[in-house]
Amino acid sequence: MIFIDACFKQLTPYTPIWMMRQAGRYLQEYKDVRKKAGSFLDLCENVELAKQVTLQPIERFDLDAAIIFSDILLLPRAMGMELDFNPSPSFSHPITTGEDLSALKSNVGSNLEFVYDIVRETRKELAKDKALIGFSGSPWTIASYMIEGGSTKDFRRAKRFIYATPALMHALLSTLTKELKTYLELQIKAGADAIMIFDSWAGVLEDEVFLQFSWRYIMEICAHLKNTYEHIPIIVFPKGIRCFASLGDGFDVLGVSSDISLSYVNQLTRGKYVLQGNLEPARLYDSTSLNEGVENIVNEMKNKPHIFNLGHGILQDTPRQNVSELIKLVRNKTSRTSN
Ligand code: CP3
Repeated sequence: MIFIDACFKQLTPYTPIWMMRQAGRYLQEYKDVRKKAGSFLDLCENVELAKQVTLQPIERFDLDAAIIFSDILLLPRAMGMELDFNPSPSFSHPITTGEDLSALKSNVGSNLEFVYDIVRETRKELAKDKALIGFSGSPWTIASYMIEGGSTKDFRRAKRFIYATPALMHALLSTLTKELKTYLELQIKAGADAIMIFDSWAGVLEDEVFLQFSWRYIMEICAHLKNTYEHIPIIVFPKGIRCFASLGDGFDVLGVSSDISLSYVNQLTRGKYVLQGNLEPARLYDSTSLNEGVENIVNEMKNKPHIFNLGHGILQDTPRQNVSELIKLVRNKTSRTSN
């Protein structure tokens, strides 16, 4: 698989490409299936429909990887927290005390069986040369939703946990780390070819606090997975961080968001990791902007290990013909047989 080879820095015929949130509302066929399923959570739990939605972008575009259709917040839900999407996520009883923490159940194995089934069924149908990516949130990013109860601008409740009750925060992060090890391991056993850990809110923490309260737990999960599944590449996406020189070893691919230039990350990481990203999704609104954005990234990453992706999730009003155009541009500009 070209995607897996690229994750391990092997020379590939061209730079592989996939897009974050590639199964989503910019596709009419997604909206149709979503309607048929009922709610977003109904869709996540419906193995047949979630499989269909996972495969939709691969059927329409020549992408190199599929990512299972699911959500990072299904894990705290499986641990006993009631969750709604209306449309943004909300937990009816956010974590506020040590008792709330003790009430969390450890049962991702049995309660998330449908996720493993989606991986298994999708892998059966996906072409052999396309990779299937399993994923989770990071302990910190998931914890922030569990404490805030939903999306937030200032993270004051989650930050209060870090600064006012650090022992309690570490207890929560350790609990999540333990569950995530099992969750990701079971996705691999079901057939995931690669794993991605989304740390969407890494960038709101001070560098040192990020390393202590987020990164070390991500590294603990990676070490656990690598211990048994060395051949499964791990992609980490600590969105918005600046301390790229402090990341150490233990993973294969580093996701980069659009707000940071790849040349800056290259200077700090010096080819240590394969970089993934980081086209600004809004460039897909216009073909001139798209061309320019792709050109810049391809030039910066020439002869460096790279997986092409957006820097954030694809926007829901993205014109679909520009997605086809993007994939064609990346193939043409990175094809190694033609130069
Ligand atoms: O990338 C993919 O195609 C795979 C599916 C996927 C979803 N969520 C489906 C989804 C993945 C990888 C995620 C990860 C996720 N979920 C993250 C980390 C990545 C990031 O965006 O930073 C986060 C923070 C969440 C939590 C979440 N889920 C929020 C905040 C929202 C509401 C905002 C929004 O975009 O609508 C969701 C809903 C969600 N997850 C949708 C999809 C396709 C939209 C739901 C719909 O169909 O109405």
